Amino acid sequence: MTWPYKDLIAIADLSADEIGTILDMAASFKEISRRDIKKVPTLRGKTVVLLFYEPSTRTRLSFELAAKRLSADTTALSASGSSFTKGETIMDAAYNVMAMAPDCIIIRYPYAGIPKKMAQLLPCSIINAGDGYHEHPTQALLDMYSIKEHFGRLEGLNVTIVGDIMHSRVARSNVYGLRKMGAHVVLVTPKTLLPPGVETWGVEVSTALDPVIPESDVIMMLRVQKERLHQQFFSGEREYSFFYGLNKSRVQKMKEDAVIMHPGPMNRGVEITYDAADSARSIILDQVENGLAIRMTLLYLSLGGSVNVD
Ligand code: CP
Repeated sequence: MTWPYKDLIAIADLSADEIGTILDMAASFKEISRRDIKKVPTLRGKTVVLLFYEPSTRTRLSFELAAKRLSADTTALSASGSSFTKGETIMDAAYNVMAMAPDCIIIRYPYAGIPKKMAQLLPCSIINAGDGYHEHPTQALLDMYSIKEHFGRLEGLNVTIVGDIMHSRVARSNVYGLRKMGAHVVLVTPKTLLPPGVETWGVEVSTALDPVIPESDVIMMLRVQKERLHQQFFSGEREYSFFYGLNKSRVQKMKEDAVIMHPGPMNRGVEITYDAADSARSIILDQVENGLAIRMTLLYLSLGGSVNVD
């Protein structure tokens, strides 16, 4: 069976079965990165272009490594080193990149909707690596993979997402995905950072973290996005840390087998302390390792690989 999509724009577009297929396939791609020779010829002859108009460490590196481990050729462009600085629009840049015949463009952009527009207008595969406050679908897939890897399931788990929900594409994608996979999601956030329409998301909302901790199987801390926050939303780092930061005393109140997650980059000392981030409960680096496997899977599927059906 061939994967039915050329693009991956949003978790909202995927069914629970499709998410399950990606998570199942990622396990075999993860094994490749643990070999001595971490390379297979699967995507030989394919070209993958990374357009990153916002900074990135994990997503950009793991997509690039994922493509290389599948033997695709890669090239990357960031906003600061491109003709964006001379006023070229993203769509002009995209048409120019398309003229060089890539098979896949991976795009991160500060505003929502550009990956979808590119997918509608360009014949190559488009993968959304994060667009504004909209979605970060590969992050949610690697998060779901990491949770399932730890617990053996997603269904019935209590997943608490803590932080700036309004500006978080990670939170949106995770909510869509986790709900589809049968998890119960609790969003913990100050009232000022609640997105409009959250009552339609099918989640529980709390403005207090402490009462939620003992019930949570997963506590996913979100980065305080200093670049997106203004004073009207956020009273200050010290106060935020006091009410919403994950610290040693809060970690001690977690369920025995509960885990800590963070998409990175972390603001240590703001949303998470050193002890919490580095505790035995943290699966933050597992998330990073799994991100590579998920991105290998998505490149394989988007570039015409078949889905294994037994
Ligand atoms: N989680 C995540 O998207 O990290 P980067 O911004 O470093 O890619």
